[in-house]
Amino acid sequence: MKTIGVTNQKGGVAKTTNTINIAGAAAAAGLEVLVADSDPQGYLTNNLGLRDAYTAESPTFFDAWTEPTEHDPAELIVEHEEFDVLPSSVDMFTLEQELIAAGWRVRERLSMIFEQLPEKYDLLLVDAPPSLGPINDNVLLATERIIIPMEAQETSVLALDHLLRQIETLEDRFEVSISEEAVVISDVDYPLDNEQKDMIAWIEDTFTDRAPVFEIRHRAAIARAVKAGHSISGYGEEESDMESVYQNIVDELGVTS
Ligand SMILES: Nc1ncnc2c1ncn2[C@@H]1O[C@H](COP(=O)(O)OP(=O)(O)O)[C@@H](O)[C@H]1O
Ligand SMILES: [Mg+2]
Repeated sequence: MKTIGVTNQKGGVAKTTNTINIAGAAAAAGLEVLVADSDPQGYLTNNLGLRDAYTAESPTFFDAWTEPTEHDPAELIVEHEEFDVLPSSVDMFTLEQELIAAGWRVRERLSMIFEQLPEKYDLLLVDAPPSLGPINDNVLLATERIIIPMEAQETSVLALDHLLRQIETLEDRFEVSISEEAVVISDVDYPLDNEQKDMIAWIEDTFTDRAPVFEIRHRAAIARAVKAGHSISGYGEEESDMESVYQNIVDELGVTS
């Protein structure tokens, strides 16, 4: 199983949107896909129509985080028409604080949970929360591979700098190597203004020889599909020219069944 975190602590950069659509493209390509929602706000879970799972009684994903050896994560997995989902839980709102209080030794909880997952999955994508706290650290350490969604905006320079510093800290402290699998420039709006042009050039330049850079354009069909609970590769009626870009991303990840 290839495990990849979709991470950037900045909110609204299309982490959730890209997670759903990369997962959908991978499922459409015949791969067994699991998506884990590590964001306590549960946008992925709720967008996919899994509100009941988000508000379910214990045991939930929260219990797995707090007592990873006591809960079988397979029992928490719910089925979606395209892929399986390890849903977020409303209980997870207190998780970040609890993990902060417990210090550095709770950065490998998610790794412990993932170790217990069934072997049938080819790809596990993890939607990360919009913060650089211990939940995101857990995502980075449990996946060791990341897709970075970012917008073609000047603020992305500083956001990327913060993320890379955090990655370096974890690499030093836990003696791991966290690799950049792909960068997705999200929600690019044509015609490009000067800021978008400059930023696309900056991102492509920054990641030359480092990671493939993809561009997902602003498409109402993408927002509509996610709102309706599926990816653009799913069972919706609409066609979108971005479907092939998501397929290219999946091809680049080199996941095999
Ligand atoms: N390519 C796109 N086309 C249209 N809307 C998009 C696109 N990508 C993201 N969005 C919209 O941007 C908003 C933020 O996206 P989201 O995936 O929730 O970001 P994050 O998970 O990083 O906070 C959502 O309302 C989503 O529908
Ligand atoms: Mg999100």
